[in-house]
Amino acid sequence: MTTTVQSELIAAIRNIPDYPKPGVMFRDITTLLGNPRAFRRAIDELVHPYAGTKIDKIAGIEARGFILGGAIAHQLSSGFVPIRKKGKLPHDTVRIAYSLEYGVDEMEMHKDAISPGEKVILVDDLIATGGTAEAAVKLLKQMGADIVAACFVIDLPELGGRKRLEALGVNVRTLIEFEGH
Ligand code: PRP
Ligand code: MG
Repeated sequence: MTTTVQSELIAAIRNIPDYPKPGVMFRDITTLLGNPRAFRRAIDELVHPYAGTKIDKIAGIEARGFILGGAIAHQLSSGFVPIRKKGKLPHDTVRIAYSLEYGVDEMEMHKDAISPGEKVILVDDLIATGGTAEAAVKLLKQMGADIVAACFVIDLPELGGRKRLEALGVNVRTLIEFEGH
């Protein structure tokens, strides 16, 4: 990817200081999603290594991973599978607990959402500590998914999430990086 495209994506993201708490710079992708050119660029860049590859399912992490994942699934002619916060899915699920900055939460998927051996790409907007994505990877592996890659628009490398996923043997694709958190 060229630095011009990266600059365009960075410029399309809104930075909100001290949100949701003092000292945190929130990277708001709603402005990127609302920008027709930047939204297409981001999706095109995320999918291009997989064009022409058979990907069975895109697994998107609630909530922003749904928006990106839906567009990626359409582009690759794949199915879409939601990974949701607990209690939102109506059928039988597999569930996993994961750590957040304060406390724990749980995420789940329908247990028939993925068949063993299916090729899956995991999608979210941002990887920080990697706790969310690592839990999603564990759920997908539990279901027998063949995880082709995990894709994110934004990486916060100082928080170590990419390395954490790579340590699990996952191929990680990110488009832009920001310093700090
Ligand atoms: C944000 C972001 C990722 C996650 C990354 O979601 O959208 O999903 O944090 O953090 P991590 O790598 O440290 O786990 P958030 O938990 O704020 O929830 P939301 O997407 O539902 O708003
Ligand atoms: Mg999220």
